[in-house]
Amino acid sequence: MSNPDLLDGPAPTGVPGSGPLLDVVDVRTQFRSPRGLVRAVDGVSFTLERGKCLGIVGESGSGKSVLSRSIMGLLPSTAERSGTVVFEGKDISGLDADGYRELWGTEMAMVFQDPMTALNPVMKVGKQITESLRFHLDMDRSEAKETAVALLKAVRIPEAESRFSSYPHEMSGGMRQRVVIAIALACGPKLLFADEPTTALDVTVQAQILDLLAEQQRERYMAMILVTHDLGVVASRAQEIAVMYAGRIVERAPTATLFADVRMPYTEALLSAIPKLSDPSHTRLVAIGGRPPDLVDPPKGCPFSPRCPYARERCHEETPTLQETPGSPGHLFACFYPVGSPETLEIKDRLEAQRLLANRPPSLAPRVTEPPQATPPPLHPTAPPPTAPPSNMLPPSAPPSNTLPPSAPPPTAPPPNVLPPTAPPPNVLPPTAPPPYAPPTDGSTDGR
Ligand SMILES: Nc1ncnc2c1ncn2[C@@H]1O[C@H](COP(=O)(O)OP(=O)(O)O)[C@@H](O)[C@H]1O
Ligand code: SF4
Ligand SMILES: [Mg+2]
Repeated sequence: MSNPDLLDGPAPTGVPGSGPLLDVVDVRTQFRSPRGLVRAVDGVSFTLERGKCLGIVGESGSGKSVLSRSIMGLLPSTAERSGTVVFEGKDISGLDADGYRELWGTEMAMVFQDPMTALNPVMKVGKQITESLRFHLDMDRSEAKETAVALLKAVRIPEAESRFSSYPHEMSGGMRQRVVIAIALACGPKLLFADEPTTALDVTVQAQILDLLAEQQRERYMAMILVTHDLGVVASRAQEIAVMYAGRIVERAPTATLFADVRMPYTEALLSAIPKLSDPSHTRLVAIGGRPPDLVDPPKGCPFSPRCPYARERCHEETPTLQETPGSPGHLFACFYPVGSPETLEIKDRLEAQRLLANRPPSLAPRVTEPPQATPPPLHPTAPPPTAPPSNMLPPSAPPSNTLPPSAPPPTAPPPNVLPPTAPPPNVLPPTAPPPYAPPTDGSTDGR
């Protein structure tokens, strides 16, 4: 008999409002390295309610994975962690490896980026699911198999019964990630970490996997921490978003609030990097200039200051702390001059104008003025006329190459694509006027 709780999701063990499932307080994780201490997570605090999804977003290297691993107790021995992690009202920060092992699978589980490395390549996928069911839930062989097949169906693996006996290499990348999700869900965890769960997949299956995760999270009343570098991924799947930069949370808000009222310039920059349906085709995405900071030797002041378009003197001296947006409970940001503040308005207008200019349709782009094609103005009245004609015009005496041989009477009118030598092209100034922007550089037309 399969366990119906595992298939339909465990009954809620608490109700919203009875205390958060997870309470993370001032977590700091550093790695010892030959260059010094890498401050991968630098004072992160947040809470997560049961059944809710928190999106953690930031560029590569911002500390998202290390934060998840710090909470789950999956850090290497070179790591030093401080701060408190309270799970279901119990402080788990001081647990040893055995203590964490008891939590993994049944209380919290993780879906990693790359299903190929998460799965054992020489073990059939069914066995990889039943192992955890038998170990954690003490199921017998047939009950574990029945539950595993039901889990494979729940994550939409076609022909689940026969796929039970497949090896990972016999499946596509999307199928493998579905198996990884089935393993993570097997023991009905209350908290699921999904760390860039679709990065290794091609774009057509990414949305399916993300939707599957969101659906399972809702149906099982499971809390989820969805880690991604892409704000677009969490926009419709997370109730709350925390934006990380240089190991810190720099903005946190309910999802709708964040998209409606971005305060942190870094979040604004991440948003600009998402393609919008309303943008005309071929709109260029705005890349964030510069590079993420060196976590061994971060810049003084606000860590985003070397890349921030709104940075002022204070930003290079002091480090902003998270503060709540007045009148918007739950919306926190760490910035001295948040988006929309008077200090940023003029700069924002200028940036927007630059963006529009860069994305204007070709028909509105100014015509590029060709260098003067007619005889240029002699700088010295006695200088001989230039001997070589401009390269895109034929000399008056030579017939155009596409006309009849010399015995034929010379054409009286130049071909339509060549202007007569005496008439200036319409988009240049007449020969007596100086060139509009720069003297010719080939030396043949300056008369000297
Ligand atoms: N085992 C480790 N030893 C030293 N530095 C590490 C280790 N793991 C991660 N880091 C560093 O910690 C920082 C944050 O890494 P990570 O959390 O993996 O970033 P993200 O998941 O946001 O891309 C990076 O600078 C990374 O190089
Ligand atoms: S504190 Fe200054 S540098 Fe940092 S994000 Fe705000 S405006 Fe930019
Ligand atoms: Mg990562």
